[in-house]
Amino acid sequence: MLKVYAPAKINWFLEIKGKRPDGYHEIETIMQAIDLFDEITVQERDDGRITLDCDVDLGPVEDNLVYRAARLLQQQHAQGRGAQIALKKQIPHGAGLGGGSSDASNALNALNRLWDLGLEQKPLESLASELGSDCAFFVQGGTTWCTGRGEVVEPMPDIVGLHVVILYPNAVVSTPRVYADLSRHLTYDPRDCYLFHHPDDRVDALRMASLVANRLQESAIRVSGRLQHVWAQTAQESGVLVRFVSGSGSAIAFLMPDDASSHSLARVLQDRKLGRAFATKTLPRGVVWE
Ligand code: C5P
Repeated sequence: MLKVYAPAKINWFLEIKGKRPDGYHEIETIMQAIDLFDEITVQERDDGRITLDCDVDLGPVEDNLVYRAARLLQQQHAQGRGAQIALKKQIPHGAGLGGGSSDASNALNALNRLWDLGLEQKPLESLASELGSDCAFFVQGGTTWCTGRGEVVEPMPDIVGLHVVILYPNAVVSTPRVYADLSRHLTYDPRDCYLFHHPDDRVDALRMASLVANRLQESAIRVSGRLQHVWAQTAQESGVLVRFVSGSGSAIAFLMPDDASSHSLARVLQDRKLGRAFATKTLPRGVVWE
């Protein structure tokens, strides 16, 4: 049996460069893995079947991204191999935290090892990108520059141990709806991202705070009344360096200067019943095995 921890992500920077003929948007984004995890365990099955159990109801198994990831890998690289997969969810769904995508890509990582396929990172990323635009990022996580529809990934030096509080406002936001809203407001000059650093530079929270930008933020707040309400309620929290919506929402991220202020904010938000709050830290690149 193998166990892998599938991390959530935030986007430090997200700009939309335009709409593509295939209906997707051309984006530039810096994705960042954080230590809020789902858990995936995989076990070999002798009968060649793939089964998936989850501790929460995710609808039909065949539609689940983890199941689809396993089938894709099996069809292309592991004919006749079977697996029993168990998924334990903690990452809120519909939150712009990439939970489903991370589960899918980390299921690929786990099955690659379980079935001893020896696939390297690039072929895994290419398989992952067939499942969703931000899946390729989750093969290795860390801090990554992503372009195209999000699937063209280029690792950046790690930004480790920054404190980020995640608030899930108990509302699901639909990514296509957010992009559709933005399409009606494509009248801005795209921003450039300026984050260059060397692997041994320690990037501090203040520097990241000055860089944060998310073009989807206004649209996410516009399409979700609940996010709008919680956004308005959290404008004045103490100690926050910068506050931003993660990806297409609904989660709000608060960059904090240290561990104590991060845990304190998470407690305050939770006590005020604004949603589920998590005190997290940024992760380095690499798969997190048990
Ligand atoms: O690729 P994925 O299934 O994650 O995308 C979900 C939806 O988000 C797409 O159907 C599309 O509406 C929107 N999207 C987009 N441009 C991107 C990524 C996603 O328009 N770069």
